[in-house]
Amino acid sequence: MNLNGLIQKFRALFPGDKTLLLSSAPGRVNLIGEHTDYNNGFVMPLAIEHRIQIVFCPNASNMVNLYSCNYDEYDSFILPVKEKSEKQWSNYIRGIYKMVQDDGYDVAGMDAVLHGNIPIGSGLSSSAAIEVAALMAVDYHNELNIDPLSQVELAQKCENQFVGVDCGIMDQFVSRMGRTGCALLIDCRNLTCRHIGIDPGLVIVIANTGIKHNLIDSEYNTRRQECQAANRLLKVASLRDLSPETFDKKKHLLSDTIRKRATHVVNENQRVLDVAQAFDDSDFIKAGQLMYESHYSLKDDYAVSCPELDIMVEIATSIRGVYGCRMTGAGFGGCTVSLVDNDGVIAFCEIMKVSYKEKTGDFPDIYITTPSAGGTVIEL
Ligand code: GLA
Repeated sequence: MNLNGLIQKFRALFPGDKTLLLSSAPGRVNLIGEHTDYNNGFVMPLAIEHRIQIVFCPNASNMVNLYSCNYDEYDSFILPVKEKSEKQWSNYIRGIYKMVQDDGYDVAGMDAVLHGNIPIGSGLSSSAAIEVAALMAVDYHNELNIDPLSQVELAQKCENQFVGVDCGIMDQFVSRMGRTGCALLIDCRNLTCRHIGIDPGLVIVIANTGIKHNLIDSEYNTRRQECQAANRLLKVASLRDLSPETFDKKKHLLSDTIRKRATHVVNENQRVLDVAQAFDDSDFIKAGQLMYESHYSLKDDYAVSCPELDIMVEIATSIRGVYGCRMTGAGFGGCTVSLVDNDGVIAFCEIMKVSYKEKTGDFPDIYITTPSAGGTVIEL
């Protein structure tokens, strides 16, 4: 649904001629730095073109009235938020109101109609996008002026404490702070970031396996626990504190499984820094090699890939003009991200579609994206 459709829907549901506002926030794809955010490490995601849009208007009451165009469903709740809804999409917005009110801010309600085109459950962070868009709407119409970094932290808190998913900070960070034409190098320990220009001769291609494994939540939590076990055994606050060289000297202290998990995290942190340097040097071959290395580390040491993702990476390796490819996001399905030369994109899409279908029986969805802007609010 385009913006005009969204506005018409709003006018039909909430009659009147008040000025409307639009809050929107993007999904993300992670170029490199997987499962490092909750280890206080480095990540390098970028905001994608797919977004959530919320057309809204403050209603000077304590009611929040919502309509989701994706689900064709309404939900209303009274402030302050007391409970979760059975409608998961509404919980992201309920959670945001709750976090903001728990932080002591005085907020009023709104009427809102929302629509998103981020594929849901594909590892492209549609949940972070709705949290960021909702938070920016609440911030704007209540004139709270919450600084951007605190917004990121509130959105993550919403996911952790209200929605109940123990994610790191990467997704909300880039959905809020992303910049057109740039990836974002984030230091997840001190929450600083650097925008890294992506050469316009490069194209970011996302290929969606369409696989949604229900393993994902339990395995994600297991990985977090395994990393904490490594911290205890190596007597460090986080794996971020170890360079690959120091880790090499200490890794004999770990059991096989824990050693593999920690090996991934320690090397992945270094790879993120090396990719950032490679982009600074316009050395795309190096950046691409590191992406492949990241994939095989996630597959073999961190054990969060799946056959369909591996097949995609294998296909990408054989296509001319592809610098690198890897699984992106938490894993166990979802998408790969590929760094492709402008001239190679059409061939990439063709070959990926046909070869993946041959090997798995299904066509993948493919999205060509450019690094996009983070969350914004405008008057319509
Ligand atoms: C999910 C989480 C992120 C991050 C990735 C893995 O997307 O939401 O915080 O941990 O997995 O890198």
